[in-house]
Amino acid sequence: MKNNISEKEGLRLLPHFPTVVVGTGRGENTNLITVALVHVFSFEPPYIGIGIAPSRHSFSLLRDNPEFTVNVPCSEDMEAVMGCGTVSGSEVNKFKEFNLTPQESSKISTRGIAEFPITMECRVEKDILIGDHVWFIGPVLSCSALKTGVDRSDLVLYWAGEFRRPGELLKKRS
Ligand SMILES: Cc1cc2nc3c(=O)[nH]c(=O)nc-3n(C[C@H](O)[C@H](O)[C@H](O)COP(=O)(O)O)c2cc1C
Repeated sequence: MKNNISEKEGLRLLPHFPTVVVGTGRGENTNLITVALVHVFSFEPPYIGIGIAPSRHSFSLLRDNPEFTVNVPCSEDMEAVMGCGTVSGSEVNKFKEFNLTPQESSKISTRGIAEFPITMECRVEKDILIGDHVWFIGPVLSCSALKTGVDRSDLVLYWAGEFRRPGELLKKRS
């Protein structure tokens, strides 16, 4: 038997999502924003999308320059993840504030974060307003990962106010 719960409560009961720090803006003026609304939209060719609320400083930067970097953090990057999701780039240079090193991109002018294990460079091809967020979706033009490799079990998930690491492996799809 099930009880009716509110639609919002239903959404909050979804499992945790990947959380990334997105770079927006041009060159040395790249800003950073923490984003939990991130999704793969196509494998071949590879497309990714990010949901950004129109009130964010990053939203106007994306409108001005439709490209972005997706930087995937691991557990040691938690301070930067929280910080980039709390303060606004209209007031603070988040690279300096959270001791992050800008990484030049190869295909776009927006910079990535050198310390984070994975960085993707993307150009916006479509933007779609859905409720309180606009989804900026586009091809992944280039991708880089730490030479030492990526420990997938140490990447960061977030939902309903909680940060977690990915948990137990249940089964492999054969
Ligand atoms: C864990 C976490 C996840 C977040 N996810 C999103 C998101 O998916 N979309 C969004 O617009 N804001 C999201 N935010 C809020 C922004 O990161 C926050 O408002 C940020 O300070 C905006 O920066 P800006 O003004 O420099 O663009 C999230 C914040 C946190 C802490």
